[in-house]
Amino acid sequence: MTLMLDSIILPDIHPDAPISTRKAKLSDIEAIHALIGYWAARGQMLVRSRALLAENIRDFQLAFAEAVGDIPGGLAGVCGLHLLAPDLAEIRGLAIHPAMQGRGLGKLLVSACEAEAREIDLPALFAWTYQQGFFEKCGFTRIDKTNLHPKVWSECQRCAFFENCNEIAMYRVLA
Ligand SMILES: CC(C)(COP(=O)(O)OP(=O)(O)OC[C@H]1O[C@@H](n2cnc3c(N)ncnc32)[C@H](O)[C@@H]1OP(=O)(O)O)[C@@H](O)C(=O)NCCC(=O)NCCS
Repeated sequence: MTLMLDSIILPDIHPDAPISTRKAKLSDIEAIHALIGYWAARGQMLVRSRALLAENIRDFQLAFAEAVGDIPGGLAGVCGLHLLAPDLAEIRGLAIHPAMQGRGLGKLLVSACEAEAREIDLPALFAWTYQQGFFEKCGFTRIDKTNLHPKVWSECQRCAFFENCNEIAMYRVLA
């Protein structure tokens, strides 16, 4: 699996391309799979199969870069909001195209998920991450890994680092 992911080459997008956002469609699965796979191969996030993406397609917000000159448009970022419990949802599957990092897209997509969470009266968000500083900029606070809601471990069985996890738990109250 790692070898396959290592071979992922993302399509070029122009770093200054205009951006639009929308919810994901089933026809976006290949592009989402490639973008998440690109970062999963670099140890930054958990790989997600096409089948898992399809099951959860309604979780995802996407950012698209428009074509600029000869450079075609394409997927610039993805972020999922996954309901874990009536009082908690997880921000997961957050990935920004390497050409677009540091341009506010990650924050934009987390904000879009946060807005969706508020629409359904969710009181809190959770995230596993190595990017503590980024999530702090999005209003999250680091929390102790002990005594977490049991549902936050739901994806961990699929993770190679299950026995030796060094991801950080981040939490944001929305009330
Ligand atoms: C981490 C990631 C999602 C951030 O997205 P991004 O679009 O590059 O970040 P943004 O431009 O929206 O940054 C928002 C703010 O966070 C800060 N920031 C971004 N990445 C940061 C980091 N790694 N550490 C500290 N601060 C960070 C930015 O400086 C910016 O601060 P500002 O609001 O004061 O200007 C993106 O770089 C990425 O996809 N990385 C690889 C995959 C990954 O790690 N995914 C997260 C899995 S949980």
